[in-house]
Amino acid sequence: MSATARKTAPSAEDIRARKGKTPIVSLTAYTTPMARLMDAHCDFVLVGDSVGMVLHGLPSTLGVTMEMMILHGQAVARGLQLAMMVIDMPFGSYEEGPQQAFRNAARLMAETGAGAVKLEGGVEMADTIRFLVARGIPVMAHIGLTPQSVNTLGGYKVQGRDKQAATVMADARAVADAGAFSVVLEKVPQSLADQITAEVVIPTIGIGASAGCDGQILVVDDMLGFFTAFKAKFVKRYADLGAEAEAAIATYAAEVRTRAFPAAEHVFADQSPNKSAKT
Ligand code: KIV
Repeated sequence: MSATARKTAPSAEDIRARKGKTPIVSLTAYTTPMARLMDAHCDFVLVGDSVGMVLHGLPSTLGVTMEMMILHGQAVARGLQLAMMVIDMPFGSYEEGPQQAFRNAARLMAETGAGAVKLEGGVEMADTIRFLVARGIPVMAHIGLTPQSVNTLGGYKVQGRDKQAATVMADARAVADAGAFSVVLEKVPQSLADQITAEVVIPTIGIGASAGCDGQILVVDDMLGFFTAFKAKFVKRYADLGAEAEAAIATYAAEVRTRAFPAAEHVFADQSPNKSAKT
């Protein structure tokens, strides 16, 4: 069902049921206005820990905290009515074990109203995913390139080429068996993404994966051209709003310096021209 035809946000089970059907549309969001813009167009919106890099200027997602996720999650929730909200578990909030993961996932959901959490990891996270799902927390998994592991992966490299393909396939099977309702495949070769999509029973959400995935996700600041520190190959720029914003700011600065702004229509007379007019 298209987002505009819906009256309420889909649940994790609704997303799971989209396996093999029409593509699932998703983007990240971190603020209320941006969430409002995408609400009618996305099936789910991810409050991604990419917020640390795109809005807070951090060098990676490792410095993102529970407090940051909760604050941005609450902001996004205010902008959504039709799309489901999924929220990322930040680095260090779930890796110790299932109990720690449950405590923090429950807090994220209770304090933001998110319908599900996302966490990074495959085989090594299967027990944690099983534990959360059994206790009422829908989990979206994230495998392939997992940015929170950038220091052990040795950079933001494609994952699953050649012999590594079996490892990524095992991760996909493990998270599906553990009860995840969907799985993000980040930066994996197209043929492997297609194989995983054909084999696992849950929807695959691609980012740098394949058009054959059950859905796609992009970081909104990347696709709108606001985040320009670097551009991954998998990002398609649908607009260049960063450049437009900078041009507008430069025009404003020039007009202030030449006293062209504010003009007559932006300032107030001593007396209102008539009583009903806005002053
Ligand atoms: O944090 C994020 O934005 C993500 C997406 C890239 C999937 O995890």
